[in-house]
Amino acid sequence: MNHFITINDLTDEEVMQVLEQTNDYRHHTGNYMIDKQLFAANLFFEPSTRTKSSFFVAERRLGIETLDFDTDSSSVKKGESLYDTAKTFEAIGANILIIRHESDEWANMLAENVSIPIVNAGAGTKDHPTQSLLDAYTIYQEFGEVKDLKVTIVGDIKHSRVAHSSAELLKRLGANVRLCTPESLKDDSMTFPYISIDEAVKTSDAIMLLRMQHERHTKSAHSVANYHDQYGLTKEREKEMQDHAIILHPGPVNRGVEIDSNLVECNRSRIFKQMQNGVFIRMAVLTHLLTKWGIINEN
Ligand code: CP
Repeated sequence: MNHFITINDLTDEEVMQVLEQTNDYRHHTGNYMIDKQLFAANLFFEPSTRTKSSFFVAERRLGIETLDFDTDSSSVKKGESLYDTAKTFEAIGANILIIRHESDEWANMLAENVSIPIVNAGAGTKDHPTQSLLDAYTIYQEFGEVKDLKVTIVGDIKHSRVAHSSAELLKRLGANVRLCTPESLKDDSMTFPYISIDEAVKTSDAIMLLRMQHERHTKSAHSVANYHDQYGLTKEREKEMQDHAIILHPGPVNRGVEIDSNLVECNRSRIFKQMQNGVFIRMAVLTHLLTKWGIINEN
């Protein structure tokens, strides 16, 4: 049975189903409370504000009971592994696992040995599939389509799971995806063109800014001194954007580094809209997986 570890775990048809379901949830059509006692275990091994809280809200809106977990007050402190933590929550009755982890390595091993659905809530440097869905949905909401739009992802491409997942999904939806970053933060495995920050601000329909992932940098990583002047969205650069162009950022934002603080809440910013959409996306992902696994029925 399929888990939701990478965005490629969803077919194109399933992506569209999830986006349509998201739209339904956003417009409050129908009764969406699940008429059955279910438990979701939210296993966040790495810090999170948006993803963790929006999964909690999504679960409660669907009537799913939430099982909290905190590495500092759990048996992780006594040496329990991610694998044994997941097996424990399965054994005590969780119906779905939501996992955030610093590593890219756990997914296959867990997926083969756990008999309830797993949702990746952001792992390592490669995958953050629910973020990519909410990014795509926010662009779709703005323009009514994604196909042929110029979307540029600017920032720490090499270490960003958002860059990898969102670029992949936006490409699948037909967007013209470009990347912009200092030489030392490029990821040569990504087959998207790199463009300058000046071209990015002048030609993009949507510009997605990323923070420096300092926690994933090695000692030899690129110096980010002067990053704001060289690659940040400054007030001067924002004036060069097309009238219809929008600003995205997955958060958390480092104001004054990748974006001028005043632009975070400017008219073009959809940063808080992304967070709002994250709840509806996660409701849709939860119902999609629970239905697919036969834990709830289609009605
Ligand atoms: N976008 C995102 O993943 O934010 P959090 O780390 O706060 O969940």
